Amino acid sequence: MSERNTQIRMKRHPAGMVTQDDFELVQSDLPALADGEALVRVKYLSLDPYMRPMMDPVRSYVEPLKPGQLMPGGTVGEVVDSRLDALPKGALVASMLGWQTHGVVNATNARLVDPELGAVSTALGVLGMTGVTAHYGLLELGKPEPGQTVVVTAASGAVGSVVGQIAKLKGCRVVGIAGGPQKCRYVVEELGFDACVDYQAPDFAQQLAAATPDYVDVLFENVGGPVLDAVLQRIADHARIVLCGNISQYNATEPYGLKGMRQLLMHRVTVHAFVIADHRDYWPAAQAELSKWLREGKLKYREDVSEGLPNAPQAFIRMLSGGNFGKQLVKVS
Ligand SMILES: NC(=O)c1ccc[n+]([C@@H]2O[C@H](COP(=O)([O-])OP(=O)(O)OC[C@H]3O[C@@H](n4cnc5c(N)ncnc54)[C@H](OP(=O)(O)O)[C@@H]3O)[C@@H](O)[C@H]2O)c1
Repeated sequence: MSERNTQIRMKRHPAGMVTQDDFELVQSDLPALADGEALVRVKYLSLDPYMRPMMDPVRSYVEPLKPGQLMPGGTVGEVVDSRLDALPKGALVASMLGWQTHGVVNATNARLVDPELGAVSTALGVLGMTGVTAHYGLLELGKPEPGQTVVVTAASGAVGSVVGQIAKLKGCRVVGIAGGPQKCRYVVEELGFDACVDYQAPDFAQQLAAATPDYVDVLFENVGGPVLDAVLQRIADHARIVLCGNISQYNATEPYGLKGMRQLLMHRVTVHAFVIADHRDYWPAAQAELSKWLREGKLKYREDVSEGLPNAPQAFIRMLSGGNFGKQLVKVS
């Protein structure tokens, strides 16, 4: 039987926590190619927290998804047919093909992946969007100085793990916050953070205070909610908060209020919110430095790979509940 394209689309807007019923699987013929296009068979799909807010019909930095639309997402895959010299058959490319097995790219929306730089999947993680996010947010916005204390939330995850390792390379004291003892052990023993505090522990606030005796100069914030409140109690004068993510609130039906205004004012804190898609020019230099650190063994990464496109919704739901341990990927082919 000839190959067909399989897609996963958003069936309806989720109400609160996303469920399997919010998705539908659709099959169709493979798309035909025009001159200047190449057909890609997807190898890996990246699952990222930003996809959840896109499913809500509210104003954002991108157009929200409408029911029936393909779920978006970063992909790496192999060119299986081409009418474009720059992307010949067999080439590996990174692009944004979304939750599908095949897709069409052109010279402007795909970049060649060099397999010499690392496993192809790293183009979606440590050498891709999440790695660049960590690099940009920490170094361009957080601007940590040697000896300063950097706190990173969702510390074992795709972004957080890279943030903490870069902060260590820059001579900082690095404290992670993660869910559960297993993730915390990994953050300290494998990634080399100075400490990691489990936000699920009953004495989380006391543990955080003990781990930040000189307070927190840079908070790389991925989570929001009560975890952010707890760190604000430890914030240093003139601290920088790099507001990267707010994952604890992506499925929330009632917004969690900002409770730390007093701390922001008293300690003259600067909050830098950013979206890495706004900083395309920054990517090549950051990717070059990240791949150098990777080759030198200075950067470690971990992947959590789910098998098969039909399992993407389940893996996505699991990630949004903290079930992933490392960069969440789906092996598509
Ligand atoms: N601004 C940007 O351009 C940009 C780009 C990429 C990512 N981000 C943001 O960065 C953050 C991390 O993304 P990632 O791709 O690296 O994901 P990730 O950390 O690999 O996976 C998500 C992690 O979030 C934590 N989490 C989930 N629900 C939580 C909750 N209710 N409370 C506390 N922690 C919770 C879980 O870790 P624990 O088990 O440790 O809680 C989970 O493993 C997300 O907020 C994402 O939106 C922003």
